[in-house]
Order: sequence, then C-alpha cells, then structure tokens
Amino acid sequence: MRHRIPAAAAACATMAVLTAVPGLAQTAAVSKGGRVEKSSFGTTKDGQAVDLYTLTNAKGVVAKVITYGALLTELHVPDKSGMMADVVLGFKTLDRYESDHPYFGATIGRVANRIAKGRFKLGGQEYALAANNGPNHLHGGLRGFDKRVWKAQPVSTGGVPAVRFTYTSADMEEGYPGALTATVTYTLTHANELRLEYTAVTDKPTIVNLTNHSYFNLAGDGQGTILDHELTIMADRFTPVDDTLIPTGEIASVRGTVMDFNRATPIGARIAEVPGPAPGGYDHNYVLSHGGGVLAMSATVRDPKSGRVMDVLTSEPGIQLYTGNFLDGTLTGKAGVAYQRHAGFCLETQHFPDAINHPNFPPVVLQPGRTFKSTTVYRFSAR
Ligand code: BGC
Repeated sequence: MRHRIPAAAAACATMAVLTAVPGLAQTAAVSKGGRVEKSSFGTTKDGQAVDLYTLTNAKGVVAKVITYGALLTELHVPDKSGMMADVVLGFKTLDRYESDHPYFGATIGRVANRIAKGRFKLGGQEYALAANNGPNHLHGGLRGFDKRVWKAQPVSTGGVPAVRFTYTSADMEEGYPGALTATVTYTLTHANELRLEYTAVTDKPTIVNLTNHSYFNLAGDGQGTILDHELTIMADRFTPVDDTLIPTGEIASVRGTVMDFNRATPIGARIAEVPGPAPGGYDHNYVLSHGGGVLAMSATVRDPKSGRVMDVLTSEPGIQLYTGNFLDGTLTGKAGVAYQRHAGFCLETQHFPDAINHPNFPPVVLQPGRTFKSTTVYRFSAR
C-alpha cells in the first residue's frame, strides 16, 4: 500500500499516536528519533506466541520483523518525492506465514539454497537430509529456521533501532549434526540502511549458510512486476546449474551472456533467453567480484518509475538472483493483490549452493569454538 506522508511528519504522527494510546505497544529505545515497538502477531498453530517488532528510524523509515522465522514482513521506504511504499512482499497474518509459501521475508537456515539429493559427508560420516525440492534439499528442509519461533531482544544503541533474534537448532534437527545457535540482528540506521548481522556457533562440526529471503518490489508491494527494475550485480562469474538447479561445479564467466549485470540492465531485458528448466527466469548464484570476507558493494537495483534505489552490501561471497519465477497468482499478498510471476525479486546473499559437495566452492563447515559471522546491508535511497 502507498501513502503520501513526508517522512519526518510520518515519524511524528506515529509517535503522537503512541503517546495518545499508551499500552498499545511496548516502546523501547526512544531517542534521537529512532525506536523499537513490540506487539503481538498472534499464536502459532502449536500454541507459541509470536511477536512483531517495529523499527522506525529518524526519517520515518519502518521495518517490521516477526519472531516467526525472524521474518521481515514490511519495509516502508521513500521514493524520490518522499512517497513511502512497502517494498517487500508478504502477508498480513501469521496463519498465512504458517501455510505453504515461498519463504517471503524469512531468515533461511541451517543451510540456505540447495544440497544435491540432500546428501553430504562430514568427518567421514554421511548425512541424509529431507528431499523437499524435487530430488534435492532446499532452504534447511521441511521445517527450517523460517518456520521456527525465535527469541527476540531489542539491542538499540545510540537511538539506532535494532533487535536481535536467536534460535537454537538441536543436534540432528532436520538431519544436521550439532546443536547450533544462530542469531540475526536487524538494525535500521538513520541512513535508511537495513543491516542484517548473522552469527552462529555449534557444539559439533556442522554446515551453515544463512540468508534472508525477502522478495523486493521497489515500486511497492502489489505494484506489478519487477521486470523494468534496473539491476547491477558486481560479479564477473556465476555458478551454472543442472536441470534441478544444482551447480555443475563449473565457475563460468558472465561476459557476453544474459547473465551479465555488471552494467545496469532491466531485469526483464533478456529474461526470456535465460537458459534453464521451466518456468525459466533467473535463479542463479553469482560469484561476487569482491570475494567475500569483508562488507562490500555487491548489487544495486533501481525502479525507474519511483526512483527508489536499493544497494546490497554483503560480506558473503555469493548472491542468488531469484526473479520470483515460481509465483503463479495463487498467493494473495498484504495489498490484496495476487502475486504473479516476477512480482518480486530476491537477492539472497550466501555461500554458494551445494557448497558442501563442491571442494572448489568457499567452505560452509563450522567447527566448534569458531563463530560464523556474516553481514548484509540493504541500503535505500532515491534518484
Ligand atoms: C531458490 C528458488 C526457489 C525459491 C523459493 C530461491 O532461493 O533459488 O529456486 O524457488 O527460493 O523457494
């Protein structure tokens, strides 16, 4: 939904409402214009309370995250004339998130993306995971981190709203070895950056690859397709896949192909020519030129109509460009609009798919005593 409220006025108006209706939500960290509010988002089918955390920065930008799936439900950012729009796809109610959906807004783990046939070896032992995507394992299995209720704690500092979500995944949950404690901290800076910082520790050797699966539409949720959005990905290479979307192991150049987004190009310009299984479209891992390890510029997307721009910075070595190819109009979103093919795009920062079965890919093994760390920033502006 879109609403024309100058950003600063929006911040004041919301604050006035909160003052007038005490007890409506718990408000923490009100200083220098940023705040975090906590309210209820309902109860899961198995009786767990789910909370909604609303982060508001000094400019009136709002991010809403629920403890179910540590999942981003709304993100309101201004266009070039100050008009706010919610730029992520999702639902209004918890029951919809608990039903089948393609990971809208969710934190993905223990291992994001695919593992071929759900099989891998670690420490001489073979592990078998659920095949929940054709013959392969996808996004942590039947009940991955996206379907768990996380603990939450506001961790705002200096008036910058932030909430840390924590989930402990038991040894052998979904077939993965080791008890793993994962955290993701959402911070909404006053520079209109949504910062996601992940950590994970384990008590036995395991594998881990965490990402966020938000579907963005910079024109606003329910505002048609993203095919005209201009995309830049700072990557010279990608990982080609087989018919089941498992990397072949090759690391191929994008130069001179429809995979090349080194220069800003509309997502839809060459999408019909992308090789791969039906229904086609981009669903590929890019090998970021910066190599990972330090937070660096990785991608930029601009919606030509609204002028909204999203920069993606990450410390991950890869990014999955997924153009909502499997959306088919059967799911209706927050704005009451059915999500058609290409209603949103994902830029999932990650280690490469099926990395555990490809020794030439950056490793995803986490040892006890070590801390997995990863940061991704979605930075918004307009021009
Ligand atoms: C995968 C797609 C999948 C989508 C939703 C993406 O990360 O690459 O193949 O359809 O998630 O499940």
